[in-house]
Amino acid sequence: MNSLKLNYLKQTELFSNNLLNWYENNARILPWRKNTDPYTVWVSEIMLQQTQVKTVNFYFIRFMQAFPKIEDFANSSEDNYLKLWEGLGYYSRVRNMHKTAKIIVDQFAGKFPNNYDDLLKLPGIGPYTAAAIASICFNQALPAIDGNLMRIFSRLNCYPQDIKLNKTKQEAFQFFEKLIDVNKPGEFNQALMDLGSSICLAKTEPLCKTCPIQNFCLAYQDDVINLFPKRSSIKKRKIEKRTIFLIHHDHKILLGKRPHYGLLANLYEFPNIKGHLSQGQTIKIITKTGFNPIRIKELEPSKHIFSHLEWQMIAYEIWTDEFSNSNVKNILEDNSRDFSGQDKKTKKASSFNLNERDDAYLTLNQDCFLSCLEDIKNKWSIPSAFNFYKEYLL
Ligand code: ADE
Repeated sequence: MNSLKLNYLKQTELFSNNLLNWYENNARILPWRKNTDPYTVWVSEIMLQQTQVKTVNFYFIRFMQAFPKIEDFANSSEDNYLKLWEGLGYYSRVRNMHKTAKIIVDQFAGKFPNNYDDLLKLPGIGPYTAAAIASICFNQALPAIDGNLMRIFSRLNCYPQDIKLNKTKQEAFQFFEKLIDVNKPGEFNQALMDLGSSICLAKTEPLCKTCPIQNFCLAYQDDVINLFPKRSSIKKRKIEKRTIFLIHHDHKILLGKRPHYGLLANLYEFPNIKGHLSQGQTIKIITKTGFNPIRIKELEPSKHIFSHLEWQMIAYEIWTDEFSNSNVKNILEDNSRDFSGQDKKTKKASSFNLNERDDAYLTLNQDCFLSCLEDIKNKWSIPSAFNFYKEYLL
């Protein structure tokens, strides 16, 4: 830490006062800031790890309307909470949240633990979330190190190392731990988050002239703000070509449920396979599954970027007539679903399953079913990778 020129920041009180005064006048009015209830703060903090404040507003309000109390969330079905998370991504986060909600309700009488160490033991609560809840709700003086604080730390200190490194995170933690206002730790953390999103900007030129802590910023003093934060080269994403099928049958659309493991687990999707298929190959494969294609239309390509992967999609809309394989009829008729996502019947369609789902063949199994458009809109959680085609249909 010596090399970080911490001496430069010996006026910690001034730093904190400048920041908190600025926050008092500039804090964003956000729906989760109306109180410091840990359930509210927890839901918002997890959502804010997924996307920007503007988007979270809508998701947060809807989620709290559906589940005003943690008990409501703990008792909800997977399909129900996944639908409310649709489009936010990283669905494992909301699954972990659900586990935590159950633990809080079953083992803690509905009350969150009131300190960092105990919060950290709960599924899906890492150092950032634990520190955010502990500081905002329980006045524990711990910095909540997110991307905003990392960037501010890097610029304040002209920090020479990659901000993605764990070591950098630890140093940022130690740095802000010395500065945090012990009387207002929640405000201190949120002030830095707001500063990061409105002044110490990530993607566009930071607004240093209006920054309340410019006097403490080495990068500003040395006029090298654009050189920080340092990042080592970003790993290349894997590219995957996929063909998506929008299969119409009997005024409904065929949907599948993804496996309970791996990418986008347990979410719903339009049937799709790896590779870019021609119309001819598509008709062949759809026919093989037992549907009887009568018309096919190629749609616009679309792409979706995951953190580690990019899907380059082409798609066909296919209208089908009477089944050419009576097994299909049985499967689809058996797969009426209720809102809890449980199949009313769970008859296996083994003879029909082509069994090479991911790599080569489109597989229609017991998890495929026909859905009306209304349910595609309101009921099944379809990841945003398919948004382009979902919106096309709706
Ligand atoms: N980003 C993460 N947490 C936040 C919060 N509590 N307020 C504003 N932006 C945030």
